[in-house]
Amino acid sequence: MLENNLPSWRQNLKSSRRKEGQSPSNRWVQLATVNDKNEPRLRTVVFRGWQKDSSMIIFTDRRSEKIEHLKCNPNAEILWFFLKSKMQFRFKGEINELINNGNYWNTLSDKSKSSWFWGSPGEKINTKFQSNHEIPHNLSKPENFVVLKFEIESVDLLKLEQPIHRRYLWKKNNTWKQIEINP
Ligand SMILES: Cc1cc2nc3c(=O)[nH]c(=O)nc-3n(C[C@H](O)[C@H](O)[C@H](O)COP(=O)(O)O)c2cc1C
Repeated sequence: MLENNLPSWRQNLKSSRRKEGQSPSNRWVQLATVNDKNEPRLRTVVFRGWQKDSSMIIFTDRRSEKIEHLKCNPNAEILWFFLKSKMQFRFKGEINELINNGNYWNTLSDKSKSSWFWGSPGEKINTKFQSNHEIPHNLSKPENFVVLKFEIESVDLLKLEQPIHRRYLWKKNNTWKQIEINP
């Protein structure tokens, strides 16, 4: 643990994010879930910040498939790769819905809010919804706005350093324990 009590992997992540710069892609992560046929499914989502030391916040639409997957199986993995520092973080954990999500809705721009009023994700498109591209103002939080809390249980960090790659594993067992493993 660091002096401000953050797990040490958070420090590694922070320095990778800093090196990457201000690009929006700095917040894009890949989220894996498992569907009811035990098949893996993967998609990009935006990292929306931390809750406590080791829970990531993600926004999504209740009508999307990942919600069905998480109902059957809350286990998930997030992959976050940083090109400049050549670091790959793999986070394993459990996802649950945060019920009191009003504050999060208020952080969104009108443009972002409007996407929760589009047609149901993954369904055949209804061209009626396509014609109006105006962005409405002051949209109230709809029922399908979902905030997910990804509670991290372990972190696997691969650093592509020269002359040899390094790999570290952290596991949470009351406190975070770190070991170095073969890359
Ligand atoms: C750059 C980028 C950012 C995205 N951010 C999110 C996001 O924050 N939340 C989300 O639910 N989907 C996001 N998506 C869309 C998902 O990748 C995915 O297409 C959608 O959530 C439906 O996934 P599902 O059918 O597996 O549930 C993003 C896609 C891209 C390309």
